[in-house]
Amino acid sequence: MDKLRIIGGQPLVGKIRISGAKNATLPLMAASLLTDGCLELSNVPNLVDVLSLQDLLRQHGVKINTAPEKLTMSLQAADIESTTAPYELVRKMRASIMVLGPLLARCGEARVSLPGGCAIGARPVNLHLEGLRALSAEIDISEGYIVAKAKKGLIGADYRFPLVSVTGTENIMMAACLARGTTRLFNAACEPEVVDLANCLKAMGAHIEGAGTAQICIQGVDKLNGASHAVLPDRIETGTYAIAAAITGGDLELLGTSESLLPTALPLLQESGVSIEPIPNGIRVKSLGQRPRRLKMMTQPFPGFATDLQAQFMALMAIAEGESHITESIFENRFMHVPELARMGADILIEGKTAYVKGVKGLKGAEVMATDLRASVCLVLAGLVAQGETVVQRVYHLDRGYEQLEQKLSACGANIERIKVA
Ligand code: EPZ
Repeated sequence: MDKLRIIGGQPLVGKIRISGAKNATLPLMAASLLTDGCLELSNVPNLVDVLSLQDLLRQHGVKINTAPEKLTMSLQAADIESTTAPYELVRKMRASIMVLGPLLARCGEARVSLPGGCAIGARPVNLHLEGLRALSAEIDISEGYIVAKAKKGLIGADYRFPLVSVTGTENIMMAACLARGTTRLFNAACEPEVVDLANCLKAMGAHIEGAGTAQICIQGVDKLNGASHAVLPDRIETGTYAIAAAITGGDLELLGTSESLLPTALPLLQESGVSIEPIPNGIRVKSLGQRPRRLKMMTQPFPGFATDLQAQFMALMAIAEGESHITESIFENRFMHVPELARMGADILIEGKTAYVKGVKGLKGAEVMATDLRASVCLVLAGLVAQGETVVQRVYHLDRGYEQLEQKLSACGANIERIKVA
């Protein structure tokens, strides 16, 4: 398991190209199952999670060609060879659950392994199943698998999500595209990745209105066709590097992205004392040279403060002036970066869903352990500002969601290197 060694103290200055969004790419890839046509994706990030989903789709019979240097991927499910998504592939990447809706809609059946939990929480998929039942699917659980049937096809219906679910919304929206009649989703997720998927589905011939709002209406069609679609920029990568500029006292131009993707996180960064300005094809994030000011924040579904940026903000608040309050309202166990930050000298108390972060003047480098994707990058951010050497272990977590992280950071002055461990 590779490690990352970081020597802190260098302000980051320069330009970083933001990659296509992991959390848009994954549902877009699953959408290829809905048609026998060819789906051409561009601005595709080169990530481990994307490779894992390619493996799963290929065993379903999807022909996939990629040109990573051109950031393109073509997918064609001319024939579905298997409607089973096996445990050994699904357990590697929980978002694999998003093949369930498309397989059921296209083939009238699907057998998908339950994804199981992960480090940040139990991550149930009950809402995905309830939504498909609302579309007249028969859903059973047998030997760890979801066994779904819709031999007469899916039938459009109303479904209200009892709580906002991003991939739940995406799964049901994809299935509804091929259902007979009208489906209306209430309390749907409004994330930009949901909108990106809807735009791609519409290019494939789907009739969808209201994506990006809490009410989405889908008129089912008999067939979808291939299409070309550019993956939207990764807002979480954008927010991560914006915080990297803030925490190191640097000045970064983030290219191929937009401030509209982070309507809450960027104003919070400005409130902490960072200058953020739009530039052609991106944003410029510049530290104003002072210690960050404390913040109070609570994670919420979009357009609220993104849970996927909670750990990264905590690294910044660890050295802020005063006591910050960070409440995690989405996942039940997303504070695992806290004990690792404490090893670097952070002063953080957790009470229930809230972390009380007493800013300290500086952090000290240490050996730390990555536990999940966003906790890992939080530790990298802390290492960039800590005095001395930080070694982050288990960086395979990072490779799932950050393309060329060390290359992008070292090109802007970071002293960071990957230590290959056999
Ligand atoms: C998506 O996960 C993202 N993943 C997550 O990003 C992100 O943290 C999350 O949305 C919230 O924004 C992808 O898009 C691939 P949810 P998802 O369903 O869809 C509960 C990252 O770091 N819930 O919106 O799985 C659930 O337990 C990842 O890139 C149910 O109870 O999240 C959670 O508490 C991490 N039953 C809440 O809803 C369900 O059937 C929100 O989960 C589904 C969800």
